[in-house]
Parts: sequence; C-alpha cells; structure tokens
Amino acid sequence: MHFTSLAATAFVVALASALPTNNHVVLEQRSGQSSWTADDRLKPDGRIKLPMRIGLKEKNIELGDEILTQVSDPTSEKFGQHLSPEEIVELFAPKPENIDAVHQWLEASGIEASRISLARGRNWLNFEASIAEVEALLRTEYKVFAHQTGQRHIACDEYSVPEHVADHIDLIMPTVHFDTKITTDPAQRKAKRDIPDNLKPGNPNSGFLPKKGPTIKGPGASPDAAQPFDLTTCNTMVTPDCLRALYGFPNGTLAKSSYGIVEYTPQAYLQGDLNLFYTNLARQIPSGTAPTFDSIDGGVDQTTTQSFNYNGESDLDLEYAIAIVYPQKVTLYQAGDLVEGASFNNFLDALDSAYCTSGGGDNANFDATYPDPNAGGYKSRDCGRYTAAAVISTSYGSNEADLTAAYEVRQCNEYMKLGMQGTTILYSSGDYGVAGNGGQCCTKAKCAGGTLNKGGSGTFNPSFPGTCPYVTSVGATQIVPGASVTAPEEACETVIYSGGGFSNVFAQPSYQASAVKAYYANHKPTYSATQYNNSQTVRGYPDISANGANYVVAIDNQITLIYGTSASSPTVGGIITLINEQRANAGKGPVGFINPTLYANPTALNDITSGGNQGCGTAGFTAVSGWDPVTGLGTPNYSKLLNVFMSLP
Ligand SMILES: *[C@@H]1O[C@H](CO)[C@@H](O)[C@H](O)[C@H]1NC(C)=O
Ligand SMILES: *[C@@H]1O[C@H](CO)[C@@H](O)[C@H](O)[C@H]1NC(C)=O
Ligand SMILES: *[C@@H]1O[C@H](CO)[C@@H](O)[C@H](O)[C@H]1NC(C)=O
Repeated sequence: MHFTSLAATAFVVALASALPTNNHVVLEQRSGQSSWTADDRLKPDGRIKLPMRIGLKEKNIELGDEILTQVSDPTSEKFGQHLSPEEIVELFAPKPENIDAVHQWLEASGIEASRISLARGRNWLNFEASIAEVEALLRTEYKVFAHQTGQRHIACDEYSVPEHVADHIDLIMPTVHFDTKITTDPAQRKAKRDIPDNLKPGNPNSGFLPKKGPTIKGPGASPDAAQPFDLTTCNTMVTPDCLRALYGFPNGTLAKSSYGIVEYTPQAYLQGDLNLFYTNLARQIPSGTAPTFDSIDGGVDQTTTQSFNYNGESDLDLEYAIAIVYPQKVTLYQAGDLVEGASFNNFLDALDSAYCTSGGGDNANFDATYPDPNAGGYKSRDCGRYTAAAVISTSYGSNEADLTAAYEVRQCNEYMKLGMQGTTILYSSGDYGVAGNGGQCCTKAKCAGGTLNKGGSGTFNPSFPGTCPYVTSVGATQIVPGASVTAPEEACETVIYSGGGFSNVFAQPSYQASAVKAYYANHKPTYSATQYNNSQTVRGYPDISANGANYVVAIDNQITLIYGTSASSPTVGGIITLINEQRANAGKGPVGFINPTLYANPTALNDITSGGNQGCGTAGFTAVSGWDPVTGLGTPNYSKLLNVFMSLP
C-alpha cells in the first residue's frame, strides 16, 4: 500500500558503483570484555565445518522510525493505517543488487553457488565452509577460546571484508561473537549450556519476578461468606475492583480484540489458582476459564515444580489480564522448553518468520538454539507460527548492560515492526528503581564493560527492553498508605521501586522530546554525567505507570499479596485492550504503538507527583509534575484515554 511507493520514491539511492577491489576493511572487532579467553595451546580442528551466516543490511531500516510515526502519531493522516507482515518484509528485505554483490564476492572467493542459501527474510546468506576457507575469506585467524566453565568455542578477534561489500553487511557469524557452540567432543556437547541465570527470562534467579507479600488466606482458601475485599481496603489489598475504581474502566463486555501475555518456562500458571482467583475476586468469570495456550519452542505449562518462584509471575499476569478483559479471551504465549528456556528473540521468531531461522541476530550467550543439543530439548524452532495479539504484555526484562548494543538495536527494530503492524508492546520497567535486576549497579560509566556490583553504589543500570523506544515501558505506583482509592497515587515505594531512568544505548525518540525537555527545565536532577547519561539526548523510561503494590493474587492455592511492575504491565495492557474493543465495535482498528498518542495527550493520564525510585545508593529520581523517569506520564484515566483514541481514525 502507501509505503511501497514511499520507499520507492523517497529512497532512490545511488547504488554504490565502487568496483570490486582487494581493499579489506575491518567489519567487527572483539571489544575485550568477555568471560572467554583464548586457549593458545589448542588449534581449531581442521575437520570442522563452520556454519557461516552473513547478516545483510536491511534496507530502509532508517526509515522505520518515520513510518512507525506516520501510523501512530495522532496528528498524522495515516494514523492507524498499519502495514501487513508481508509489506514489512518487502519494505526491509535487503535489495537484490546488494544481496547479489555479497553473493558474487563469495563465489569469486571459491564458495560455490550451490553451497549458498538465502534466508526466508532475504536478510541472511548461509553457507558451510572449512576454517581455512573462512580464514582466507575474512582475512582472520580462528582460535579456540575457553570459558571459565570449561566450555570451548571457536572465535576470532576481528575480521574484515572487501570494501565494496562492507556497506551491505551488518555482521558475520560465527566470528567475534560467541554465538555458535562448536565442539567435536560428544561429552561436552551434552554438557548443560551455560546461559547465566540472570539472562534466562523465566529463571527464578533472573531478578525480574514480582515480590511476595503476606498471605491473606491459607491453603485451600474458598470464598468467604463475608468478602474481606472491598473499595475501603484498596490501600492494603488491591483487587480488580480497586483497579477499576482507580482508573475508571468498566468490566469487559465485548470479545472483539485480542490480548497476549508472554511467559517464559519454567514459569507456569496453575488452573486451580485461576479458579480460586475467580471465585474470590472476579465472580463474573466461570471456573475453568483458561487462556488460549500458544506454545513457542516447546513451551509447556509445567506443574511438577510448584512454588511462588515458579507460579507467581504467570498466575499474577493471567489472573489480572483475564479479570480485566473478560469475556475477551487472553492468549498465553508460553516460550521455551524445560531444558533450555527461551529468550525474547525466540518469542519474536514465533511471531515473525522473517526475523527467524538465521534472521534474528541471535547470540547463544543470550538465546536458546535449536535443535537443542541437550537431551530432552526442543528439536525445531517455531518461526512465524502465531499471529501477534493486538496488545502484548511482558513482565520480564534484563539489564541493558547484559547484552550488546547491536543485539539490542536489532531486537528493538523488531518491536518497531510489530508497532507498524498495529501491535501494542508493553514491558514492565523493573522493580529496583534506577538499579538493574536484583538491585545491581554498574561499576563503570555508561555501564560499558566491567561487571555489575551487588548494589548500594555504582552507576545507574537501565533495563531492556524498557529502554527500546518502540515499546511502552510501564512503571509502578501505589495508593498512598492510609489514603482512599480516590486519592492521587504516588510512585511505588512499598517492597519495590519503579524501574526508570535513561538509556545508555538508545537515542531519544521524537515523541518524547518536549516532555523530557520540560523535565530537565523544571526538575533537573543533580546527578553528574558519570551517574547516568544526562545529555538529554537519550531515551527516558518508563512511559506510563499503574499500581504495582499489594495486588491480591491466588498462588499455589493461597491468596497472597504481590508487588512489582510485573503487575502494572498486564493492568495497562488490559485497559488498552478494553479501548481496542470499543474501537473495534466502532469499526476502527487497534491503537497500535501508543507512545506518540500518550505523549501528545498527557492530560489523559493522572500525573503522579510524589515518591521516588531509589537505587545504587542514591534517592534515584523523583516523581514530579509532567513526565518523569519514575512514573512516566502517569497512570491511565480510562474515559479520557478512550475519548482520545475514539477521536482518532
Ligand atoms: C477521569 O477523568 C474524568 C474527566 O476529567 C473525571 O471525571 C474522572 O473522575 C476521572 N476518573 C478517574 C477514575 O480518576
Ligand atoms: C465488575 O464485576 C465485578 C465482579 O462481578 C463486580 O463486583 C463489579 O461491581 C463490577 N464493576 C463494574 C464497574 O461494573
Ligand atoms: C550520552 O549519550 C549520547 C548519545 O548517545 C552520547 O553521545 C554521549 O557520549 C553519552 N554521554 C555519556 C557521558 O556517556
């Protein structure tokens, strides 16, 4: 539709007319910080074939921001004119002549055409080659590296390509990244993969799960004749009815849109807990009401290990998502098998076949690989198997500092593409204020290199994907202790602190520019540039917030209180879903990427002006009038937001 012509006219680029030369330029170098060291005693085995993957530069990727803005800026004529997945593949697939140039270079270097294949998204060229071939091709030398765990991996320190193809290539793997585990030793092959726990989104040690509070009703809790919960107890126990009172949204009546919740195995919900929740707190929902189960890469709802650390997140997310949007059905995207788990990229692969196969820029330090080499692991990868729900909420995250910038940018661009298709992507902003997962802070400025400390000092440690400008990052508020449900809320300071701050990776998106400018003009924080990037040119988060304290949740057959932005995100997602339903009822499409509309209509949110998000031995930032890096623009006022979105095409 509209964008094919835009791409064609606005993007007539003079093709690089450079003649092939023998000048090689370095494409990537190892940065130096890594838990791997070269083991000079060993030479790579000559019998090994390397599975080479050349990541081709996507075309038009620099136009993506503008196109997303066109379909999501409320002042744009094209608001709501979302693109189809096919249009997005066409828009970003590398140009045939660029693919050809790289192909020709490979053939001229002795890699026969019959060995080379192009990925479905047309963004990766794949071939197998011996180490000698690759060393000649990339003018490099492979070494065996050893990890502190004893695992070995082949990699090089840097590699180069001829000048005339360098502009067409993002990266080549395996090279400087530790992205493909190659071993000739079957015993090692069986060894448990060593993805650190904090990088496995569903791992109980990931530091991103909600926090448990006191138990309200013991095992086997059944509905009391006298309900202990009503609107007078919201300041100590938050229920779906309390959220309706806080944000003014009605019970769901339609089932005209779609709402997805993402969970990472081994996190799992228990149907008994959902039923217990319905009978106590959402009596309009029949017992047995379950989410639609979309299994990704062997995702299972495991019930063998049951405890707060395994059921808390999933039960919380699903109980509140379902209670808010019922009778709309909620889809559960359960990602990862019990052996290897999964990463955000595995989830994205399942929605977008063009991102998948070898197209995702995966990194085995962070991502699961398929077929899983471990016994019992999942054998194939789900590519483009599911359609994206109109709203998708994820209550997991990691530290920006745990991942590489190139990896984060590539994944963030995928959220951008989902926004272009009309999907609202929500991520919780983290529970440790300006510190990262588990309260850790950075030991070096900009979190570049070094290691994370245990908190209490150091520089602020922003969380990802909350800092990706193409997701909506959700922070946490609380009812002021002792106050009524109708009084203004404040930033959450009970058990958890709302994740917030400024990115070390992503530039400031245009939709946020005036809000952040006003924040610095009126409430400039006193921290220095070593504490966080205060240049006013980087992405600030969160964007919006919602209550995240004292949620009443049924977990492991008990009624318990729970705390976290993990609660805030599914609540905001539910409210956006109710708005989508009203739009659908009026013949309109889903709201899609909401940030431009939120920032253009700050008065549709309840501004939060007190509380802070301490961390790293500081008081963190403070919630103030206008946008702030604690609660964003504030909490939703459903009727005002509905008016705004219903007034748009
Ligand atoms: C939302 O805004 C409307 C209009 O200003 C106001 O009447 C209403 O009380 C607000 N709702 C909530 C729950 O604060
Ligand atoms: C929504 O449903 C709940 C549970 O049935 C009920 O208690 C509540 O009064 C309803 N709220 C509104 C705003 O209709
Ligand atoms: C802050 O971010 C900007 C934009 O990315 C960058 O140019 C600048 O060097 C960063 N400042 C610090 C102190 O890291």
